[in-house]
Amino acid sequence: MCGIVGILGQHEVAPMLVEALKRLEYRGYDSAGIATVNEGVLGRRRAIGKLVNLSDLLVHEPLAGKSGIGHTRWATHGAPTLVNTHPHRAGAVAVVHNGIIENYRDLRAELAEVGIAYQTETDTETVALLAQHHLESGMSPIEAARATLAKLEGAYALAFLFDGEPDLMIAARKGSPLAIGHGEGEVYVGSDAIALAPMTDRITYLEEGDCAILSRSEVTIIDADGQTVQREARTIRIDAARIDKAGHKHFMSKEIAEQPTVISETLASYIAPDASDIILPGDGIDFASINRITMASCGTAYYACLTAKYWFEQLAGLPVEVDFASEFRYRTPPVTEGTAALFVSQSGETADTLAALRYCAPLAQTILAVTNVPESSIARESDLNMPIHAGVEIGVASTKAFTCQLTVLLLLALKAAHARGRLTDEGFKAKLASLRSLPATFNQAMSIEETVRGVALRISQSRDVLFLGRGRMFPLALEGALKLKEISYIHAEAYASGELKHGPIALVDEQMPVVVIAPRDALFDKTVSNMQEVMARGGKVILITDAAGAKTASDGVWQTIIMPDIDDDLAPILYAIPVQFLAYHAAVAKGTDVDQPRNLAKSVTVE
Ligand code: M6R
Repeated sequence: MCGIVGILGQHEVAPMLVEALKRLEYRGYDSAGIATVNEGVLGRRRAIGKLVNLSDLLVHEPLAGKSGIGHTRWATHGAPTLVNTHPHRAGAVAVVHNGIIENYRDLRAELAEVGIAYQTETDTETVALLAQHHLESGMSPIEAARATLAKLEGAYALAFLFDGEPDLMIAARKGSPLAIGHGEGEVYVGSDAIALAPMTDRITYLEEGDCAILSRSEVTIIDADGQTVQREARTIRIDAARIDKAGHKHFMSKEIAEQPTVISETLASYIAPDASDIILPGDGIDFASINRITMASCGTAYYACLTAKYWFEQLAGLPVEVDFASEFRYRTPPVTEGTAALFVSQSGETADTLAALRYCAPLAQTILAVTNVPESSIARESDLNMPIHAGVEIGVASTKAFTCQLTVLLLLALKAAHARGRLTDEGFKAKLASLRSLPATFNQAMSIEETVRGVALRISQSRDVLFLGRGRMFPLALEGALKLKEISYIHAEAYASGELKHGPIALVDEQMPVVVIAPRDALFDKTVSNMQEVMARGGKVILITDAAGAKTASDGVWQTIIMPDIDDDLAPILYAIPVQFLAYHAAVAKGTDVDQPRNLAKSVTVE
């Protein structure tokens, strides 16, 4: 996590650095800082809290200079205090860092032996101290940076700036992404291309172990083997426009409301114009030659994978394993012949998911990715990337990306079912027709917002909330609990309805709201039985169902939320709306920071 940026410019860079950092705030917002070289002299400004605090500071204490580096922090080592805020400086060196230097304790000990003391609790300070130590031993800035990089273990995207060197910046990556942007007599580095979009669309992505020596007129890249290499500069399409809330109070609310539109774009990009087929990018996938799918992802993307497991198994007859990427990567799971490995990630940069992909790359028959950022590491390192077309998602709590991920995964499962002869041509086309009506049904379902807001106001006072779902609704129950936790800070747990009686039912009392997600599908009666068990113990049930479900099962229910009728296969996508609204309005009622909840970041680039 953390976002880094660097500019060797023709103009004052402080405002440009702050603008780029705004675009990186999704990576963390514990503190922010910049350093510049002005008339050869290194200076810096730092502020704790959101970027706006740094902007305010710069109004009162401007920082001149045409070269600079900047950082927005998600704290890993050390509290979000000023002293721990990047850029870190030691003598003539300033450094910004995204990642974790795993051997920083050893390095500190080595530095201590030669009398060098540290001031901060961070791992990053060690990088600055080490580089300064090398400078003092007579090395040039380039030599000092390279000697420092050679000592580092762990993950990093780093940018170095040096006192007395207004036309030099050194950037390096290992395990964390870093892009170089090319301008007219200017050069930039950034954690992603979005940060650099207002300045350039000409981007070179550094590869693992690369070190770039940058001046305004020249970019030299040295690879992990010490060889000077050429890396392709590509023109990429990223909207440089400022991203706004379009009249909504929060990005999350805007992103929930956008779902009918973005889902329709997702569908349009995969379903053939005559609605007869699903067109996959490139050469597509030969589903007949695949006998199993392995998926690994994190957070909401993991729940999207869990939902997809039901689809792939039930529709296409393909066995599926799903695991948290953070567990998968260290479990050394056997990847058998005929395995397609599939990774879902909104950002395409989640460190654990990327590591799981890299584990599978030499073993799996094919590597598939479902991402929202086509230029991301996960997209680039896959054999086939399926973009979800959700548009930029700013709210830390994922909403539209989740439903677009589900849409792409269902399309993929249907394609597999058809290719494997599990769906007839007619059945396949009927499913595509249902899918094409999904955006309209989503629009219709948006009208539940006021009802859900009323329920959310009531549950916002609760200490704990339970979510229950069966079959394909179980992963959505997990997602509902995650959404509520992350933005309202209310403790929430989700269980497969049938599991409740094996322990968690002990939690149920008159104070416990229990959200039951149950469209009237084949498993409805089973779920209703579990709901009765909750009500028998005084639990306050919030039933999310359709009109038929409400008619049969609303008696004794505390609150009923009625959804439009929908094809069973599509229900996990549509029923995301009430759980999103529930979390959103509970958070608004509690007055939490909806778009940037405490302790979180949008893109998790550390493990
Ligand atoms: O970018 P990714 O989809 O890989 O991110 C995975 C999780 O970090 C993410 O889904 C997280 O759980 C969200 N904040 C949930 O709303």
